[in-house]
Amino acid sequence: MQLGSIGRPWLFASVVMGLSFSLAAHATGDAALGKKKFYTCYGCHGIDNYRNAYPDYPVPRLRHQHAAYIVSALQEYKAGDRPHPTMHAQASSLSTQDMEDIAAYLQGPAPIEPSSKMVGQMPPQVATCAACHGANGLGVAAPLTPKPPILAGQHEQYLIQALDQYRSGRRKMPVMMGMANSLKSEADVRLVAHWFASQPSPLATATPDSQ
Ligand code: HEC
Ligand code: HEC
Repeated sequence: MQLGSIGRPWLFASVVMGLSFSLAAHATGDAALGKKKFYTCYGCHGIDNYRNAYPDYPVPRLRHQHAAYIVSALQEYKAGDRPHPTMHAQASSLSTQDMEDIAAYLQGPAPIEPSSKMVGQMPPQVATCAACHGANGLGVAAPLTPKPPILAGQHEQYLIQALDQYRSGRRKMPVMMGMANSLKSEADVRLVAHWFASQPSPLATATPDSQ
């Protein structure tokens, strides 16, 4: 996406409107079944600070992440739109109903609500992201589809890894490829990742006893 040639406010307004107009009905999952189906996933996602090897970064926190986002992320791994071989294999073994059930379990009955609480002074580089992720990474009230993930409280190194993959086109999600490429430098990538990772958040490791 060529951000330089287009007026930014116009671009963001049209992207956000495009997303909200495509609001789709969302099937619901069974959280109790989802907990059982998550059994094999605890081995990585249920251990605090469990790390991916080569490259080395922590496995993302999934407890309380939005259900709709979990389903779309799993579908992207399954389709190969995200380049992680283990997660491709994991997601390929799941039906859409399995994904919905797991997502209902992970999110829990009370989805994370947007709030205005912040720790520190928001860097200007974050302004662009706030339209969809909220200034503090806890999301926005608008019902956007696809659902943007909660970034607050996510592992900093995982956020850097994800942004680098959108920037290089290895994660093939057009909206985020454009947004990640609007960050001017690797220093800006680290800065926004640090900002979101250090905001207060209910996002947590999905240990077997987490609620
Ligand atoms: C061998 C370790 C491992 C196992 C087992 C595993 N995952 Fe993952 N998972 C990862 C890693 C590493 C990532 C980050 C991949 C990347 O960089 O895109 C990830 C990413 C994810 C994401 C994306 C989160 C986000 O914020 O975008 C979801 C959702 C997910 N896993 C769900 C599952 C589910 C459901 C299972 C079980 C069916 C599972 N994982 C099993 C290691 C694992
Ligand atoms: C127009 C809405 C929108 C804007 C603006 C936006 N994002 Fe996103 N973001 C999304 C959506 C939707 C996803 C899910 C993409 C996918 O499925 O891979 C996402 C995913 C992400 C992820 C992956 C998180 C994970 O758990 O894997 C990161 C990191 C991220 N965004 C950071 C940013 C940053 C930093 C900015 C500002 C430079 C930004 N986003 C601007 C909508 C947006």
